[in-house]
Amino acid sequence: MGVVEEHRKFLKHEIPDELKGVRSDQQRGVPPPPLQKPCPDGSRSIDLVPPEEFAAWNLSLVEAIKNRRSRRQFSREQLSLEELSFLLWATQGVRGVAKEGVYTLRTVPSAGARHPFETYVIANRVDGLPSGLYRYMPLDHRLCRLRELDAEFRARLVDAAMAQGFVGEAAVVFVWTVIPYRSEWRYSARAHKVIALDAGHVCQNLYLASEAIGAGACAVAAYDQKLMDDLLGVDGAVEFTIYLASVGRVDRRKGRTD
Ligand SMILES: Cc1cc2nc3c(=O)[nH]c(=O)nc-3n(C[C@H](O)[C@H](O)[C@H](O)COP(=O)(O)O)c2cc1C
Repeated sequence: MGVVEEHRKFLKHEIPDELKGVRSDQQRGVPPPPLQKPCPDGSRSIDLVPPEEFAAWNLSLVEAIKNRRSRRQFSREQLSLEELSFLLWATQGVRGVAKEGVYTLRTVPSAGARHPFETYVIANRVDGLPSGLYRYMPLDHRLCRLRELDAEFRARLVDAAMAQGFVGEAAVVFVWTVIPYRSEWRYSARAHKVIALDAGHVCQNLYLASEAIGAGACAVAAYDQKLMDDLLGVDGAVEFTIYLASVGRVDRRKGRTD
């Protein structure tokens, strides 16, 4: 079997023989890991618009599904803070915390409700939000501000996205990292397949929610692992980038919106 075919095993509900019978940390009674990463000490925390106050955007789900496509041409128009709040809630918003902090239920499904992702937000054009790198705090529905954006950061972002220029043009870039142990705690070596499945649900909600507000999204899985991890300030081992997506207002008058 070639190396590529060998790698297919990842897609199966199958684990190496030496891991069969190994009990997960959950089965061994190890306490669960935290549900979200704390804000760094001293970082500013920003209130988002709560879901109960979202405007009634008029686009139906049917229309959003019908219109969805990958959008790579963005206008210079800003998103509002309310729209960004909606996109964050639609992708990772928490509906409830169960079993005293063992798991959360959210707007997207996740195997075992482990929700192993953190959402980093590179905000370029959001009305009322200074441009910067932020992290979403799903349990609090807030953003914590990590750093400012400067020309060097923006150039590094495009490099880290393998020179895909539209990533640098987006109003907002969502970068999802994974903390694999959140899922491994429950699933051990079976965690990795379901983590990849979970990421797809998150980004699909971003696509549909973006359409609903007259914006558009494009998923991006072609990125340089080390450059992107360094840009976010994550260690590449306990936490690393798994997926990203650019979002911006789409100028539908121009005709071409891809
Ligand atoms: C997992 C995944 C990774 C993708 N990575 C990229 C990417 O790195 N760059 C890009 O321009 N588009 C990327 N796309 C978008 C696809 O090219 C796009 O979904 C496909 O061409 C079909 O077009 P549509 O989304 O408009 O239907 C990705 C999509 C998915 C689902």
